Amino acid sequence: MSIQKIDQEKLANKYSAVRSFTERLVQPLNMEDFIIQSMEDASPPKWHLAHTTWFFERFLLKEFLTDYNGFDDHFDYLFNSYYETAGPFHPRIERGLITRPSVEEVFAYRKHVDKYIKKLLMSDSMDEMGEEIGSLLEIGLNHEQQHQELLLTDIKYNLSRNPFLPAYQRNESKEYESSTEPVTFIEMEGGLVEIGNHGKSFCFDNEKPVHKVWLDSYRLATRPVTNDEFCAFIEDGGYKKPQYWLSDGWSTVQKNQWEAPLYWFEREGEWCTYTLAGEQRLNPNDPVCHVSFYEADAFARWSGKRLPTEEEWENAFSSQTIEGNLADSGRFHPQTAKHTNQTPFLQAFGDVWEWTKSPYVSYPGNKPYEGTLGEYNAKFMCNQMVLRGGSCATPASHIRATYRNFFQPEKRWQFSGFRLAGDIH
Ligand code: AVJ
Ligand code: FE
Repeated sequence: MSIQKIDQEKLANKYSAVRSFTERLVQPLNMEDFIIQSMEDASPPKWHLAHTTWFFERFLLKEFLTDYNGFDDHFDYLFNSYYETAGPFHPRIERGLITRPSVEEVFAYRKHVDKYIKKLLMSDSMDEMGEEIGSLLEIGLNHEQQHQELLLTDIKYNLSRNPFLPAYQRNESKEYESSTEPVTFIEMEGGLVEIGNHGKSFCFDNEKPVHKVWLDSYRLATRPVTNDEFCAFIEDGGYKKPQYWLSDGWSTVQKNQWEAPLYWFEREGEWCTYTLAGEQRLNPNDPVCHVSFYEADAFARWSGKRLPTEEEWENAFSSQTIEGNLADSGRFHPQTAKHTNQTPFLQAFGDVWEWTKSPYVSYPGNKPYEGTLGEYNAKFMCNQMVLRGGSCATPASHIRATYRNFFQPEKRWQFSGFRLAGDIH
């Protein structure tokens, strides 16, 4: 099947826009910042720049562009992240030891692949394989957008390990919102509801198929939990009382001696936090961020509520307009919920990813991508929890109501917060 010239152009424009946004994100970095890996989860920026490029080279150029030669024979090993069926790859924990290729060479790699992707999009292969190439390119672009968020979260963690807490960027200073919307719980009518994505526009394989789920009526909070509300949990000894914690959560708290969310520190009796704009006094009205699933779950139990399931979340927000404090705003920090007249709910999209109580497993009838890309999402469907809604580091064109993010329950370096739910009876 051939796709229209106009679609080819649209794809090429989208490709340029996504690729250049990535490069804009690393503009504020110094050369040294590109190389370090401060923990296993936080890859070096240079690695992200190369890995996203490798993805296009491996799954598009090498598959569809006749006579394409790889840019460098070592890159399949260095920049394959985890695709076992694509061949051996470098251990994740040693990504910070790769001082060669240089940053400059990685930018040259990006340029090279960009040139050949444009060539592929104008080639004869598009007549016959246009549909397949188009959908792989969409996966590649959405993949790069995922890494745009990871770039920001990893840069934040890397810089946070510097004792002087350097800023990635300076945000124009903003007065704290002195109040936020009071939280209320909206009664949501249950019943047999449709969950999942029809696939009429791009979605990942894990969002399919559409299927029916029974929901008992439930209550859902109008906004995520704030720093101030989370402080009440801390002050009540929340981190010291095992009765609120899952067993795995309690051992994680003990092992890591957690007493507050990641990036919080006390100075002269006041809570401060590290942000991509440097350290600041904690704004009590902002959504709480950088908490693990365990902390979200413990807070919920302490407050007599619970986390929503991913289906309850999706059901509440499936017809909501996608707007909010997303990466496009360029602030890269959650902000205080502000009143709108549109719906009773605030901050469904953007600000913080919202932990749900749902384990990340496949939907009934789900079919992973074919071949090597089958490893993209499906093989992680064990021991991780689903998060919904995107964050201040998620590009707006990347998020939707059916989007399923997932992380292990102890992770907190992502922009992760939560919204409470409750039962009706
Ligand atoms: C969906 C964010 C958990 O971080 O591995 C990047 C995104 N997948 N490259 C991850 C992803 C392949 C994924 N998360
Ligand atoms: Fe990746």
